[in-house]
Amino acid sequence: MNKTIAIDGPSASGKSSVSKQVAQQLGFLYVDSGALYRGVTWQAIRTGADPKNAQAVLDAMQDANWDFFVQEGAIVFSVNGDIPVQELREKAVREAVADVAAIPEVRKFVVENLQALAAFGSLVMEGRDIGTVVFPDTSYKFYLDADPKERAMRRYRELVKAGENEKAEEVMESLKKRDEMDANRSVDPLVVASGAQVIDSTSMSLEEVIKTVLTEVKK
Ligand code: CDP
Repeated sequence: MNKTIAIDGPSASGKSSVSKQVAQQLGFLYVDSGALYRGVTWQAIRTGADPKNAQAVLDAMQDANWDFFVQEGAIVFSVNGDIPVQELREKAVREAVADVAAIPEVRKFVVENLQALAAFGSLVMEGRDIGTVVFPDTSYKFYLDADPKERAMRRYRELVKAGENEKAEEVMESLKKRDEMDANRSVDPLVVASGAQVIDSTSMSLEEVIKTVLTEVKK
């Protein structure tokens, strides 16, 4: 039977690296649910919709053609035939995504599409609400956390590596703002799912976190 491993947590808590490697080691497919919220945001922006205008975002989302397929061990999506990757990390998307992800109809669309991905096989899915909303019945739930300063530094180093020219304080501020929005929105806020194992990775190496998850899953 197909299994689903849910890995939730705030920005830059290490979810992506951990989820990708756990998926690879178990031979499961990796799914980045945040990419889909970013994808809806990107589609809205590139069609000229104001991301703060919920109806305009919904029109852009509904007018587009979304497709899901397996690529190199992950399930990815295309929108109107394009596969955005780097585009999803752009500043405009990063700044608008928490607003877009707070629109209930956007969440419904994304959640339904994510649930349908179970038909592809066993999954490791990372996000904010995978253990609470998308796959609440799975026995494999993890909540990755880390000190906000450590998370901001991790995100800052990632951005610098990607060639983005940003100040550490700005990254810290924007992360804090998104954390607050994600934790306080009325629909599916970021909370620890019941039954989830909480892992605080502040002073753990990536390998240690991966090992903790794999040990728990194999129990
Ligand atoms: O990489 P990072 O953790 O910063 O963000 P992400 O996982 O790409 O998610 C971007 C945004 O999408 C988050 O800040 C949330 O607002 C939203 N999101 C969500 O609401 N629910 C999810 N399951 C995943 C992402």
